[in-house]
Amino acid sequence: MSIIEIKDLTKKFGQFTALEKVNLKVKKGEIHGFIGPNGAGKSTTIRVLLGMLKADAGEVSIFGKDAWNDSVAIHEQVAYVPGDANLWPNLTGGQVIDLLLEMRKQKPNEEKRQHLMKLFEFDPTKKCREYSKGNLQKVLIIAAFAADADVYILDEPTSGLDPLMERKFQTHLLELKEQGKTILLSSHILSEVERLCDTVSIIRKGEVIETGTLDELRHLTRMNFETETMQPIQELENMPGVHQFEQDGNKSTFQVDKEFTNQVIQVISQYEVIHLSSTSPKLEDLFLRYYEENEERADDHE
Ligand SMILES: Nc1ncnc2c1ncn2[C@@H]1O[C@H](COP(=O)(O)OP(=O)(O)O)[C@@H](O)[C@H]1O
Ligand SMILES: [Mg+2]
Repeated sequence: MSIIEIKDLTKKFGQFTALEKVNLKVKKGEIHGFIGPNGAGKSTTIRVLLGMLKADAGEVSIFGKDAWNDSVAIHEQVAYVPGDANLWPNLTGGQVIDLLLEMRKQKPNEEKRQHLMKLFEFDPTKKCREYSKGNLQKVLIIAAFAADADVYILDEPTSGLDPLMERKFQTHLLELKEQGKTILLSSHILSEVERLCDTVSIIRKGEVIETGTLDELRHLTRMNFETETMQPIQELENMPGVHQFEQDGNKSTFQVDKEFTNQVIQVISQYEVIHLSSTSPKLEDLFLRYYEENEERADDHE
């Protein structure tokens, strides 16, 4: 069952269409990565999901409840880290954490709160105006994690955190997943998404251009090959399914579309293989490929 469901969500700001028929489903107990470059529409989607913006068209629900009309009921079960928060400059970090928890009608769980502050090495006694971006982010993360929720919606939560804190955040998120929590994590950090997420949606210019498990998305792309053979391989360069072929004497590197793997191996084997490696593409390769293809297509139209 999907806990979060977004169907054909369209959102306009005046004449500008920020989201165009966005579809997104997050199942119970999964971490769903929501990735895309700056300005792609991640925060706008999340604001609609949290009932802070009204959709122009489409259906948006959490637990089957409408994001706009039933937002009070939804918020009782949802904890979130907003993308750009303006926190009360004159309150201390500790006060803001308590305030955010009280707004959720939850008694601060002192033990959990202390544990999180220690984990993130956070000093709650300073005023918010004195905190760095990273420390402000910690206020929001601690408030979200200290809350008792079934669903966590996190909008680029690690922005401003140093790598050590980012790791701690990731470990904690995986613990929440172990507990069966459902998590939507927006990010533009691909390594973070690769490490944490079961499924991924890629958004670009207000449209979700791909969605699936990491493995499914990898299948869409090419395997990286590296070979060393007794004689230089000749006929690969112009073979269908082979891309970016580069050769240096008896060594070559290239990419192969999945469906051509067998044919390519047969060709290579005729040249007496000394070394052969094939590696899965990184999400980043997929991401870049999309960019290149879309840019090419955009250029074609000009
Ligand atoms: N309140 C707003 N008014 C006008 N345009 C907006 C508003 N909020 C966001 N946008 C525009 O919508 C697009 C998507 O923004 P956003 O959802 O913040 O992207 P992301 O979170 O992926 O970086 C951007 O072009 C942004 O400038
Ligand atoms: Mg954003």
